[in-house]
Amino acid sequence: MTTWDTIWTNAQLATLIAGASTPYGLIEYGALASKDGKITWVGAIKDLPGPADTLARTVVDLNGALVTPGLIDCHTHLVYGGNRAREFEERLHGKSYAEIARAGGGILSTVRATRDASEDALVENTLPRLDSLINEGVTTIEIKSGYGLDCDNELKMLRVARRLVEHRTINIKTTLLAAHALPSEYKGRADDYITLVCEEILPAAHAANLVDAVDGFCETIGFTTAQIERVFEKATTLGLNVKLHAEQLSDQGGAKLAARYHALSADHLEYLAVGDVQALAEANTVAVMLPGAFYALQETKVPPIDAFRKAGVDMAVATDCNPGSSPLTSLLLAMNMAATQFRMTPEEALSGVTRHAATALGIGDETGTLAIGKTADLAIWSTEHPSELTYNIGFNPLKTRIFAGVAQP
Ligand code: NIG
Ligand code: FE
Repeated sequence: MTTWDTIWTNAQLATLIAGASTPYGLIEYGALASKDGKITWVGAIKDLPGPADTLARTVVDLNGALVTPGLIDCHTHLVYGGNRAREFEERLHGKSYAEIARAGGGILSTVRATRDASEDALVENTLPRLDSLINEGVTTIEIKSGYGLDCDNELKMLRVARRLVEHRTINIKTTLLAAHALPSEYKGRADDYITLVCEEILPAAHAANLVDAVDGFCETIGFTTAQIERVFEKATTLGLNVKLHAEQLSDQGGAKLAARYHALSADHLEYLAVGDVQALAEANTVAVMLPGAFYALQETKVPPIDAFRKAGVDMAVATDCNPGSSPLTSLLLAMNMAATQFRMTPEEALSGVTRHAATALGIGDETGTLAIGKTADLAIWSTEHPSELTYNIGFNPLKTRIFAGVAQP
């Protein structure tokens, strides 16, 4: 009796199930079935309820290949105009990221280029970066606004992010990051800009159904905790989840604020005080590690990884793809950097781009592990062991990306 659409059999399954009895939740000689885009069965081949070809219309013999959940990049600024290669040169000549930002470059130079770009041009600019991630088995990606910094341009960025699904098979989660930097027309009037964010940009973006979560940049070159709190209050009133760029360049107490608002995630965290780790644990806020920005800014202060481990804070890993601090379009390389720079284990790195990344986006029920009922978004790899995904530098062993049960060309 054929009940399922597809069975992938003879696979090594890295299920990434929480609390599994094997590392990576590994099932050797495994099989996984899907129907109507959802996972309907996962386990050892010997436990299948019958011969595979009687259970599904299509049987795919994977010949021992590794299957993981489709990868999830839970923190990106993928949509932007222009690039910042010239600032990269300036930094190599000794200027700091914060100095360039204070002189009107940095985020604000990308704001100018993004405001100047049409919606169609932004879609075209973004697709090659998206393809780079897709080619590594990414099936879900978060994209932030934050280079518009006025109502029209913030909404434009979010529409571009949403429109990418017309061009590629990918799940997109959008995040409003209007509180990213102070636009030059508000110079000296940060509180007024926050009023604009709370009273106009956020309600308009939400009403247009363009916002899945709300983010901010809490930093000396961004906004104060008091200003971010106003944005979080408004987001909460609208029923939206929040997250925060916190403690990237200095300790501003952002993560504590994020925890108080039960943020989905607090991101960067290099300068987080160990004493604030417990607050994240208690709020179930995911710590998102962004080793690409750490690398590109030649940061030396490592986030308190061991304290996260001890407190049971879930750690995600993401590219932070953006034109300034992390022009990185490889999630596999981010995993390697998380291990080499932050001493995360390969298992933590893989959990960080699957299960914990899903939690950081509030979609842990839908994706991030190989479990019955979740979307059949899978990545199939020609590796012998899942640690190879983190170990290799600049090598992509992806064989096939499965999106909602369907193998992608
Ligand atoms: O995550 N920290 C603030 N935002 C980005 C950088 C954006 C930019 O430099 O354009 C980040 O690192
Ligand atoms: Fe970021």
